[in-house]
Amino acid sequence: MSYIVAIDGPAGSGKGTITKLVAKDLNLVSIDTGMLYRCHALAVIKNNIDINNEEEVEKILDKVNINLINKNNKQIVFLNEEDVTNQIRTPEVNTIVSKTSAIIGVRNRITELERKIGYDWLKEGKNIIMEGRDITTVVFPDAKVKIYLDATPIERAKRRCKQNKRNGINQSFEEVLQSIMERDKNDMNKEVGALKKAPDAVYVDSSKCSVNKVKNKIINIIKEKTKENKNENHKKNIKSNS
Ligand code: DC
Repeated sequence: MSYIVAIDGPAGSGKGTITKLVAKDLNLVSIDTGMLYRCHALAVIKNNIDINNEEEVEKILDKVNINLINKNNKQIVFLNEEDVTNQIRTPEVNTIVSKTSAIIGVRNRITELERKIGYDWLKEGKNIIMEGRDITTVVFPDAKVKIYLDATPIERAKRRCKQNKRNGINQSFEEVLQSIMERDKNDMNKEVGALKKAPDAVYVDSSKCSVNKVKNKIINIIKEKTKENKNENHKKNIKSNS
C-alpha cells in the first residue's frame, strides 16, 4: 500500500533540501506545497489585485489554474499554461506570500488542491513526501510518517546568510535573523494552518547536524514507521486467514 510522509517546519529548517534528498534515495514523489502558495501570490500580482481585498485575493483562484507536476525529479509549477517555477521566487512574491497564505479561504482551497495532488499520486501507486507548514496537522493528519523538522533561529539565519551569499544577496546577519523571527511569528500565529508540531509527529532538530546526517535520520524514521505498518498488515492478514 502506498504511503504519505508529511514534513512540517519553519523557514530555513532545511525541509526543502532534505525532502528532495530523501525523495531521491527512497524513490518518493516530492511535493513542495510552498510552491502552490507562491503561485497563488504570483497570480495576485499579475492580476493587479489589492492584497488588502481578501475576497478578491481568494476569488482569483476561481479564475486561474494552478498545477504542480514532477518531471525527472524536478517540480514545475504552472499558472494556467505558463511555467512560473522561477517567477515564484522573486522578492515581490516573498513580500506578499505570508499575507496571502494566511487568508482562510485561500488556505481551504490550497489544502483541497494539496490533497488532490497527493491522492492522484497514491492512486498511481507512488509513495509521496509532502512538505509545508500544516501538512502533518491539517492536510494529511493521518499520514503514515509525520516529521517536524526544526533548527534554532540563529542556525537558520546562518544558513540563510550562506545561501544569500551564494545568490549575491547582501543582507546583514541581524537583518536575516530579524526576518526569520518575523516569519516564524506569522507562520505560528495564523488563524488556520498555523505551524505547530502535531502531537504524534517525530521531532528532528537539525541545528547541529550535517545535511547528510539529517537525511539519514529521516530515512531511518521512514523505514521504521513503514516497517511497523507492514508488520501490522502482516499480523492482520494472519488473523483474517486463521
Ligand atoms: O516554504 P516556502 O517559504 O516556499 O513557503 C512560502 C509561503 O507559503 C510561506 O509564507 C509559508 C506559506 N506556506 C503555508 O502557509 N503553508 C504551507 N503548507 C506551505 C507554505
